[in-house]
Parts: sequence; structure tokens; C-alpha cells
Amino acid sequence: MSVFGDVSESLRRPESSGHSLRDDVILVEVAWEVTNKVGGIYTVIQTKAKVTIDEWGENYVMMGPYFEHNVRTQVELVEPQNPAIKRTIDSMNSKGCKVYFGRWLIEGNPCVILFDVGATAWSLDRWKAELWDCCSIGIPWYDREANDAVLFGFLITWFLGEFVSQCEGNCPFIITHFHEWLSGVGLIMCRFRKIPVATIFTTHATLLGRYLCAGNVDFYNNLAYFDVDREAGERQIYHRYCMERAAVHCTHVFTTVSEITAVEAGYLLKCKPHVVTPNGLNLRKFSAVHEFQNLHSKSKMRIQEFVRGHFYGHLDFDLDKTVYFFIAGRYEFTNKGADLFLEALARLNYLLRTHQSRVTVVAFFIMPARTNNFNVETLKGQAVRKQLWDTANAVKEKFGKKLYESLLSGELPEAKQMIDQEDFVMMKRALLSTQRQSLPPVCTHNMLDDSTDPILSTIRRIGLFNHPNDRVKVIFHPEFLSSTSPLLPLDYEEFVRGCHLGVFPSYYEPWGYTPAECTVMGIPSISTNLSGFGCFMEHHITDPSAYGVYILDRRFKSLDECCNQLTSFLYSFSQQSRRQRIIQRNRTERLSDLLDWRYLGRYYTHARLLALSKAFPSDFSDDLAEISASLHYSQPTSSPPSPSFSAASTPRYSDSEIEPYDEEEEVEIDRKNIKLDSMLNLIHERNKNLEESFTFRKSSIGN
Ligand code: UDP
Ligand code: G6P
Ligand code: GLC
Repeated sequence: MSVFGDVSESLRRPESSGHSLRDDVILVEVAWEVTNKVGGIYTVIQTKAKVTIDEWGENYVMMGPYFEHNVRTQVELVEPQNPAIKRTIDSMNSKGCKVYFGRWLIEGNPCVILFDVGATAWSLDRWKAELWDCCSIGIPWYDREANDAVLFGFLITWFLGEFVSQCEGNCPFIITHFHEWLSGVGLIMCRFRKIPVATIFTTHATLLGRYLCAGNVDFYNNLAYFDVDREAGERQIYHRYCMERAAVHCTHVFTTVSEITAVEAGYLLKCKPHVVTPNGLNLRKFSAVHEFQNLHSKSKMRIQEFVRGHFYGHLDFDLDKTVYFFIAGRYEFTNKGADLFLEALARLNYLLRTHQSRVTVVAFFIMPARTNNFNVETLKGQAVRKQLWDTANAVKEKFGKKLYESLLSGELPEAKQMIDQEDFVMMKRALLSTQRQSLPPVCTHNMLDDSTDPILSTIRRIGLFNHPNDRVKVIFHPEFLSSTSPLLPLDYEEFVRGCHLGVFPSYYEPWGYTPAECTVMGIPSISTNLSGFGCFMEHHITDPSAYGVYILDRRFKSLDECCNQLTSFLYSFSQQSRRQRIIQRNRTERLSDLLDWRYLGRYYTHARLLALSKAFPSDFSDDLAEISASLHYSQPTSSPPSPSFSAASTPRYSDSEIEPYDEEEEVEIDRKNIKLDSMLNLIHERNKNLEESFTFRKSSIGN
């Protein structure tokens, strides 16, 4: 019988790690992004659910905020089976709270407990006062997000305290894993109220780091010198910073998602993480085995359709010689490196023009900003394309009918009679509708802050206006993608598959899911050695660029040098032949396994045991020794020696001019290249002088 219900069948212990946790331990994961998509933290929680359920069965529950629109589309509300949970929820709800229990409709189908923070807003002042009394953190009334964090944190604490007492002396061991500062108050209050739970706090970025970088500070060269309190105060985030720092110092185990954020946390939060827990992905979701090349082709055709509409009247470039680049993510212009990307695109445009290249690059910017919907010109483009399509189909139908009639009557058709005057008129009219006085728009939406928007302002400065002479075209789509969009009806995954290269030249990026997602879909990407993902790949692969994982040096180069390096990556990529691109996609896809939660989940397991052994030393220290030892082995038994098994997905070419693809040679390159042995030693290595590996010689910004 599991702690969360009668589900003995689904309760399984970790097989892969060979380590077995006791059944009387439950795991609670708390994050503002549980069922609530904002950015990458949602991806962490959502993609990790399956491996966590495999490990913990019904002893795993997530806690997040209740938002009606999220619940309506993602959650099935059900009655909790566990009596203590039911009593806890009933008790809270009888006191005016709105707590919901359900199943999140994602792979693994985890239990979720959701708290409507608005319903207990009446407690805000009292809880803020308590927070002040316990740790002297004062939350200003105008900071809505911080107020929500207080409500959320206190509700979580209330729940856990109530649950422990509802267990009536038969309480399981509880591990509570809090993500990011927004859930940090829950951790602080659990510790303050001495609720018997082991705590883990993971920060996915430091608040101050994100703010400082966004403000064009030479961040990495000054890490050791920031007056953190003053900097936080000047940016009006002192109270948030205090919540984050208090959580970090209260927790039993502190983790960051990458080495680079570990160093940053040491300086800005004055605490080094106990464990680095790199972000993984659920490969089963992405795995398309032999199909991913076909999926690329299919999705690319759909992107091409959009491009045909968008550039109507100016479709003077060869779509077969067009490559699609993109950048996507939350709209942090400099942190995400959109500034660098635009500058590099301007230089690329110049290079392609001066070399009279026949290649065209279409660069997409998918970054949500404030808009009031699609603009007319963009919608019109798709309508015109549709009209041309309908006209072509109508003429084709008539043509087919006439041809059929003619063959039935035993005669070969007269070419001239096949398309009559009426058809010509119809086609001419359709052609007239493709006339256009303006250039194809750079932005697909009406922006609310058009004149000050950083992407648009830069485009105006560098002059990339989709002119026919430009070899680089730009499309800014200031909204996350959706398959229900009338404009570009693709979900993000389909879109990524259809593109040729993801470009993520981030300056501040604790991990960076976007290039990782490209990798598992077999799409090459550019990231940087200032991003967690980029450093991780550099650490594990001798020559990542051979696998289509280009890592830009933003650590030791000036902005201008960096921009040149990016331009040269983009230029060489644009000069690749189709065959080279296909081979490279195959190679990229082979790296997928490095990013699977099946391996990376171990760091979470380690953090949990560490937390248990700290919180309940007499019960768990032996387990910790056991799992620490298991983290030393050089190669996981379940992992292949190289990513070579994906070689079977290599396409076979019918085209005679294409040389046969040498799988053996590819596998050999893999063997030389991948240092899989080092894969599971990350935790141990990071303890060896973190700073040493993170020296920053030259300013990346401000030079
Ligand atoms: N994303 C999305 N739709 C889009 C663009 C991005 O769902 O149209 C997701 C993407 O799949 C990724 C997340 O947004 O998982 C961004 O995470 P990342 O770690 O790269 O950056 P963050 O936003 O957390 O800083
Ligand atoms: C995949 C498909 C091929 C197609 C190719 C296009 O590999 O299997 O049939 O020709 O994509 O590649 P490209 O890089 O030109 O989009
Ligand atoms: C944060 C970071 C991002 C990371 C994500 C998930 O939002 O900005 O780099 O990938 O969290 O850890």
C-alpha cells in the first residue's frame, strides 16, 4: 500500500540505480510552474514526471498554483485516495482555502495538489507579518508576484503541517523539493515551523544574476565584486532576493541546474550548491527513431507554406535553397542573445550578398511580447496564398475533367483547349491580388510597444527589412507557437523539427532547454559557453560541432569577436549542401541519450537521499553511502558505449550524385569523440575547485 493510495501495482522502486528507497518515504515537488507554463521550469517538471513516477509510484505528488484555464486543459480533478490527504484538503477547504487534487494529464499521470492563492488573499497581511517576524523579510504591497509567492508558500506549509498531524503519529518520511524563489517561502516556513520534512531547494537562475545581466553589466568578470544587497536594492528586488537567499540557506540540500549557475550562486547567494542537477528530457516523447528526418521534411513543408504566404509578391528566392534559422524563448533580449543574433544576421546578409550566394536565410524570432493580435498584412499574406492555391486547384480540376473526356472519346487532347479563356481570366485575377506596395512585414503581430521594442528597434537600426536584395529575411513572431494558430499552425516541437538551425547565443542561461530540445529532435543548434547546456556538452563531447552542437565562445571573447564567430557559424552552415545537412542531423540526434532523464535523474536521486540523511540522519545515512558509491561507476549498464545505435536512422539516397554514407566511419567518429565515461562523474568533479574551471578572462560585454 503506497502512501498516496491503494496502488500497490504502480509502486515501483528504481531499478536502474540499483538502489531501493523505503516505501515509507514520500516525495513532494513544489513549483509555481506545476501545470502552469511560463518557461523552462515547466519543462523540467513536466518532462521529469515519467522517470519520477517510475521511481516513486504513487508516493510522488506535485504542488502548484491553481489557475482555472490551466486546470481546464491539463488536469483531471479527482478525489484523493489517501485518507490523510483527503482529510488535509477537507480541513483546509473548510477554513476558506481552495485546494484541489487531481491528475496532471501528462506522461506518468502524476498526482497534483493545486492551491488557489487568490482565495486566501485575506490572509496576506497576517502571513506577511509572520514572515517578517521569522526572518525580517518585508514584502511591498505593489509586488504582485512576491505577494503570490507568500500566499503560495504559506499554503504549502499549512498543507504539510496539517498532513503530518492528519497522519496521526504514522507519518511517512517526507522529502519536499522546492523550485525557484517563487516557492521558497514554503521552504522557509517549513523550517521555521519545524515541520519534519527533508528539504531541497533548486534554483534555476539567481534573481540577481538575471537582473544584472539584463542590465548590460560585465557580469562574469565581476561576480566576486558585486555588493549584492545594494545591487538588489537598486533593482527593487531586495525582498525577492532575500526570499531566495533565505531559502538557499535554510534548505538541507541546495542544487543548481548547471556548474555555471553553481559558481554564480556561490557569489551572489553566498552558498555553493551541494549537488548540480542538470536538466534532462523525456526522450520517449521526442524519440522518432527512424522517422526524424521525415518529420523534418514534413514540418519544413508547412513552414514553407507559411513563408510562401508571408512573402507573397516578393517570392523571388528559391525555397529549395532556403534555410530556416530560429531563436525562441522568454523575451529577454540580451540574456537570450537576441541582440547578438540580429547583429550576426546583418553581417551574414552582407556576406551572402557580396558572395552573390543563391542561398536565402529566413530567421524566426519566437519570443512572446505584448501585442494586440496578428497584423492585417500578415493575415492577408496567408489569405492570398490560399487564394492562389484554390485557383490552381480549380484550374487543375477543370483541366483534369477535359483531359478525361478527351481520352474517353479516343482522342489526344489539344493543348490549347485544355486551359480556356475563363481559366486565364481567373488566374490573371489571382495574380493581380499578389501585387504588393509594401515589403513583407518583419513582425507578424501588432506590437503594443512597437517604437521601443528591442528587436524591432534593432531591425530598424541594422536595416533588415525583408527587401528583395536581402539574402537574410527576418520574421518576428511575438507569441509562443500553437497548432491552433490561424497564421502558423504548428506547435513548437513541429516548428523546431522543420527548421534547420536553432540559434541561442545566450549571455545568461543557467541551462537552456531550447538547444537541448533541438538536439533530441536531430536539429543542429548554436549555444554558448555561458549556458549550462553549452558547458555540459563541451564537458562530455570532445568536438560538439562535429555533432551539430556549435558552442559560441562568449566567455573569453569580446562582443565583436563573438559576433564574428557567430556570423561565421551561420555562414558556414548556410553553405552546407543538403547532403551535409542530412548527415549532420543524423549525428546531432545521436547525442540524445546524453540528455535523457533516465541518466540525469540520478542527480535528483542523490539530492533526495542527501536531504533525507541530513534531516533524518539516524534513518538514512547508510542509504546515502550506498547511492554515492553507485554514482562512481564509469558507465551506466543501460547506456550504450556510444550513440552509434542511432546510425540505423541514416537515410538511404536514391540520388546518384550523392556519395554513399559510411556508417562505420560515423560510428568511429562517435567513439573517439564522446567521453561517456565522464558522464556520471559530474558531481564528483564539480567538487574539485569549481572556480578553477570558471575563470572569465575577457569581458564578453562592454569591451
Ligand atoms: N517554448 C515553447 N513554445 C515556444 C517557444 C519555447 O513551449 O513557442 C518552450 C521550449 O520548449 C522550452 C522553454 O520554452 O522548453 C524555454 O526554456 P529555456 O530553458 O530554454 O528558457 P527559459 O525560458 O526557462 O529561460
Ligand atoms: C530529410 C528527408 C529528405 C529531405 C531532407 C531535406 O532528410 O528525409 O527527404 O530531402 O530532409 O533536408 P533539408 O536540410 O534540405 O531541409
Ligand atoms: C530558467 C533558466 C533556463 C533553464 C530553466 C530550467 O528559466 O533561465 O536557462 O533552462 O530555468 O532549468
